[in-house]
Amino acid sequence: MKDKLKNKVFKYITEAAEQLNQETYVIGGYVRDTILNRPSRDIDIVTLGNGIELAEHCARKIKPKPKVTVFKNFGTAQLKYLNFEVEFVGARKESYRNDSRKPIVENGTLEDDQNRRDFTINALAMSLNKENFGELIDPFNGLKDLAQKIIRTPLDPNITFSDDPLRMMRAIRFSTQLDFEIEAASLQAIATNRERIKIVSAERIADEMNKIMMAEKPSVGFKLLEETGLLNIIFPELQQMKGVDIVKGTGHKDNFYHTLEVLDRIVPYTDNLWLRWSALLHDIAKPATKKFIEGQGWTFHAHNFVGVKMIPKIFRRLKLPLNEKMKYVQKIVKLHMRPIILSEDEVTDSAVRRLLFEAGDDIDDLMTLCEADITSKNPEKVKRYMKNFKIVRLKLKEIEEKDAIRNFQPPISGELIMEKFGLVPSREVGLIKDAIKEAILDGEIRNNYEEAFAFMLKKAEELGLTPEN
Ligand code: CTP
Repeated sequence: MKDKLKNKVFKYITEAAEQLNQETYVIGGYVRDTILNRPSRDIDIVTLGNGIELAEHCARKIKPKPKVTVFKNFGTAQLKYLNFEVEFVGARKESYRNDSRKPIVENGTLEDDQNRRDFTINALAMSLNKENFGELIDPFNGLKDLAQKIIRTPLDPNITFSDDPLRMMRAIRFSTQLDFEIEAASLQAIATNRERIKIVSAERIADEMNKIMMAEKPSVGFKLLEETGLLNIIFPELQQMKGVDIVKGTGHKDNFYHTLEVLDRIVPYTDNLWLRWSALLHDIAKPATKKFIEGQGWTFHAHNFVGVKMIPKIFRRLKLPLNEKMKYVQKIVKLHMRPIILSEDEVTDSAVRRLLFEAGDDIDDLMTLCEADITSKNPEKVKRYMKNFKIVRLKLKEIEEKDAIRNFQPPISGELIMEKFGLVPSREVGLIKDAIKEAILDGEIRNNYEEAFAFMLKKAEELGLTPEN
């Protein structure tokens, strides 16, 4: 395993540890990721002794000397070496109380430190000591679990998860990110201890959920959350999408699995977390708006608008940002059916112009979601939608080049209208401005000053106004 420790920082740590006469190891995520050949920037160092002193001694060996940030309360210290963040801590033993994720910490041995870790694959340590540099210390067969792609807790999973219930989310997140299977007893223990998730802060849960969202196949994580019963606790709105109602032999599609399919389908086309969130939430109001109408079948009337209203509550509860990111998600959810409706019959210029006006710079993201949203099993239907979306995309480009609607600024201002007709701010000014906007969106006139000016004169005349100059 020596070849895994080529980073020069390990040489400095080894020297410093020898001089202080402290047994020292690299442990946890860095060891796991290095063996998996995944890039890793966080290096955790555990030492039998004082972690802060070791960090400071180590920093003195590096040129130029890096700053050491000390967290006295935690007994840890951090330094940056090139792009790496190296964290030093003394080996510890932990015991937990029932009502908190925060353990009682005492000094311990390397074995104690490995015992307190969440998964066998995260409990691997490599020696940074001169006599056995690079040797793997693997008390729980983590290496075997890495090779067999298994997530398993080192101790009884009921203890590991009950001690720190965030680990239930972490298990599911690692399983999604790494494409690993959660071993049966560990999976069962998540289901058993699911209620314990309530002592974990919303921020930590959201962090893990965002990591699931950014994985290659986020559906894996959401299915596991559902199967273990965690989803119903942390995200009941999503849980309610699962299932199919049947009335008079007619069912609708299962919106939970449909949503997850859309989410997986959008992944290759975007790294934008918030577009992925839009995919997860686009149909969130389907359960609330579901209705069976005789002669029509299942309807989800206005589910996009109801969805927009549900989003702030969900974001607030999950402690997701309540700023322009949320507004963006709301906008995409609101508009998500428009391109489909627009493609259902002939794609007209004015419909495309109006969509462009409303979506602005987010139009491409909206189209990306709509394309991912076509999950029909009927190949003819898929072909027809995709063809129509191509036409929509072409027309969007054409109209944008001609009329620059994307960031629409009215070519005639309210001030100019008031000045021209000697008006004070009034209903008429609004009427004329609106009529100009509508005429542009309908394609009656083009989006430029001359045509808008001529249109303004005509509209004002209809309203019985005469220009002052
Ligand atoms: N750890 C743990 N229980 C937790 C969090 C962390 O046992 N709830 C341990 C694991 O051994 C983990 C190490 O602390 O490997 C470092 O944690 P962290 O940096 O959060 O995670 P990584 O495993 O490094 O993975 P990632 O960076 O992807 O979160």
